[in-house]
Amino acid sequence: MMLKPFERENVLAMPVVLISTVSGSGVANVAPWGNVTPILRPLDEIVIASALKRDTLDNIRETGEFVINVPPASMIDEVMICSRLYPPDVDEFAEAGLSKKTSSTVSAPGIAGCVAWIECKLKEEIVRDKYSLVIGKVTGLELNEDFVTEDGDLDYENAEPLCMLCGGSVIHYTKPVRAGRTAQYSEMFSWPGKKQD
Ligand SMILES: Cc1cc2nc3c(=O)[nH]c(=O)nc-3n(C[C@H](O)[C@H](O)[C@H](O)COP(=O)(O)O)c2cc1C
Repeated sequence: MMLKPFERENVLAMPVVLISTVSGSGVANVAPWGNVTPILRPLDEIVIASALKRDTLDNIRETGEFVINVPPASMIDEVMICSRLYPPDVDEFAEAGLSKKTSSTVSAPGIAGCVAWIECKLKEEIVRDKYSLVIGKVTGLELNEDFVTEDGDLDYENAEPLCMLCGGSVIHYTKPVRAGRTAQYSEMFSWPGKKQD
């Protein structure tokens, strides 16, 4: 079955995050985001793609800060409330019944009850005709203590970080499950026949 070129998200699973910001006049804002990509391990930058008409983008330009909150699957209703087109002077924490969590490195608050919080400072913006790529430097990264494994990793099966796949007429919300095995990073750097040192 062939799909249309714009239907990339129908075949690429994406994270669903909530980006929290504050406007220059102090109004807190929350918006769901799927176009979020860490830029190469082990660097500390992350890029988000934004449509040009977004209060989130305006706020990031005004304050130079944002928090990428990873919501649990149980927050889908709040995610959808925050996706509505509120005017910029409406506090979307209040609208969605979300509680603020003080951030460590930025003045924008995070969202209490999330799985993890990625605090960012604006590093660079790449503006095109129809979108902007916002590159943030991660200045603070915190994992909810309730969802840490013995190895210090995210306990994703209990935390249920929200993900999505787009469909023709609906967003399919999903969550990660174990696929069968883990892999050593060193597997990437070996090939058959390589001489061992
Ligand atoms: C699951 C989901 C993912 C979204 N991802 C993005 C995205 O990656 N970029 C974007 O510009 N808008 C995205 N949106 C749309 C914005 O969240 C929506 O337009 C919101 O009202 C923007 O709020 P703001 O104007 O307060 O920033 C997404 C919406 C949903 C429901």
